[in-house]
Amino acid sequence: MKRHLALFATCSLGLSGPATQADTPVSGATTKAQTAGPVYTAQGRLIWPERYREWIFLSSGIDMSYRDGGAMARSAFDNVFAEPTAYREFVRTGTWPDRTALVLEVRGATGTGSINKQGKFQTGNVTAVEVHVKDTKRFPGGWAFFAFQGTAPAQQIPKSADCYSCHQQHAAVDTTFVQFYPTLLGIATQKGTLSPAYQP
Ligand code: HEC
Repeated sequence: MKRHLALFATCSLGLSGPATQADTPVSGATTKAQTAGPVYTAQGRLIWPERYREWIFLSSGIDMSYRDGGAMARSAFDNVFAEPTAYREFVRTGTWPDRTALVLEVRGATGTGSINKQGKFQTGNVTAVEVHVKDTKRFPGGWAFFAFQGTAPAQQIPKSADCYSCHQQHAAVDTTFVQFYPTLLGIATQKGTLSPAYQP
């Protein structure tokens, strides 16, 4: 999607770089980071969710753009994954528990390859990985966004970024875009957890 690719372009200019000594995970929490909620460095950077591809797949969008007239520079899929503990809690209650982590992976799309004649499939080219984290003790408002460059720990995206306002104003459940996650939308509708701002 347009904004994610744009962000990636910005970030690749400056934010990448090897993890410093100070970025070491706090007290042996690495293993936990891979299976349960978010884990941070002592500086508050989010540790790379190494096994997110083993999480629960919510949906894919292709070439989505949220602004009028926005021609895509490159064709891309958005793949969204939920950390399994949080997912199960959503299925039970219709909303996200504290310490939820959701990953959005942007991946190249192509129609050219092997026996394919029409339509598009995903490539090995991941152009962005962004994480939306709910951690009410840590973040005012409950949620925070992080954008990774490689696997180095990621700094929180500032609250002034449009990530926060768009998700706040348009997302169906608790600042997450459940209206685009077909297996969750019915649950939220049934449990009455859709945000008042959301108009289906
Ligand atoms: C103009 C609206 C808009 C803006 C701005 C925006 N997003 Fe999103 N975001 C969406 C939509 C729509 C989805 C639904 C999934 C998709 O795109 O496939 C989404 C999904 C996500 C998800 C998956 C979890 C969830 O909350 O549903 C993450 C992570 C995410 N965005 C991160 C970001 C980050 C980081 C930024 C800022 C750099 C950002 N978004 C800016 C509209 C927006």
